Amino acid sequence: MIEVNKLINLFKKPAKKRKINKIDDTRIPSHIAIIMDGNGRWAKARQLPRTFGHKAGVEALRDVIKTASNIGVKYLTLYAFSTENWSRPQDEVSALMQLLVDYLKKEVGELHSNNVRINTIGDIEGLPRIAKIEVKNAKALTKSNSGLCVNIALNYGGRDEIIRGIKKLYKDVEDGLSIENLQVEEFAGYLDTTNIPDPDLLIRTSGEYRFSNFLLWQSAYTELWFTETYWPDFRGEDLIGAIVDYQNRTRRFGGI
Ligand code: IPE
Ligand code: IPE
Ligand code: MG
Repeated sequence: MIEVNKLINLFKKPAKKRKINKIDDTRIPSHIAIIMDGNGRWAKARQLPRTFGHKAGVEALRDVIKTASNIGVKYLTLYAFSTENWSRPQDEVSALMQLLVDYLKKEVGELHSNNVRINTIGDIEGLPRIAKIEVKNAKALTKSNSGLCVNIALNYGGRDEIIRGIKKLYKDVEDGLSIENLQVEEFAGYLDTTNIPDPDLLIRTSGEYRFSNFLLWQSAYTELWFTETYWPDFRGEDLIGAIVDYQNRTRRFGGI
């Protein structure tokens, strides 16, 4: 007679194989967007000031960019500073801006030698002068690169982007553009993401399940992926895990 334990084992789900082996490199999402969240809580859990969490997040950033570049992702959009983040204490805002400046100064050379192109979305004119200069330099230096496009969302809010888009459109209407038959694709061209395809996959770290004003228009049919991991602990292998899950989904775009 068959033993009870053997019988139970028969009905157990097979152990999950390590996902890292199962990625299909012929179906890498072309655009991945990430809400890099949880720096403050990462620091708090270690009784450190919040800014230490932001600093620790740079290591995650490096690893994720390296992995995305190696596996052939075309666009990586990273939420670095939202239009709402200005409401944080002044010293945290300053620390984040300084971190951005230091990061670009230190890393842009290596990114450039790896054929990475730096782009931004968001209202760059609203950034402090030093940050604006560094961002502009990084974009200018890397503009002809053909590898991964690292698209940094800075002073970015989805609603702000749509309003700015409408203002640009309005100017064209004043110059004689007919708005009667305005198409979805045409309006998309007025957004900061013009020439960038919609994200295939959106990742949010730190166990929060919301958009927080990120890519509201562009995420209409994006696959969403969440993890409890705080951003400073996120690594390239977590990105691979998200991609494997993504590859196991069926995107229907409203069809059957
Ligand atoms: C994300 O981490 C980084 C930015 C928003 C700039 P947070 O600073 O939001 O960290 P938590 O969510 O407070 O833990
Ligand atoms: C979103 O995270 C913005 C960035 C990651 C840059 P927040 O921490 O600002 O979002 P909320 O406040 O938790 O919604
Ligand atoms: Mg947060």
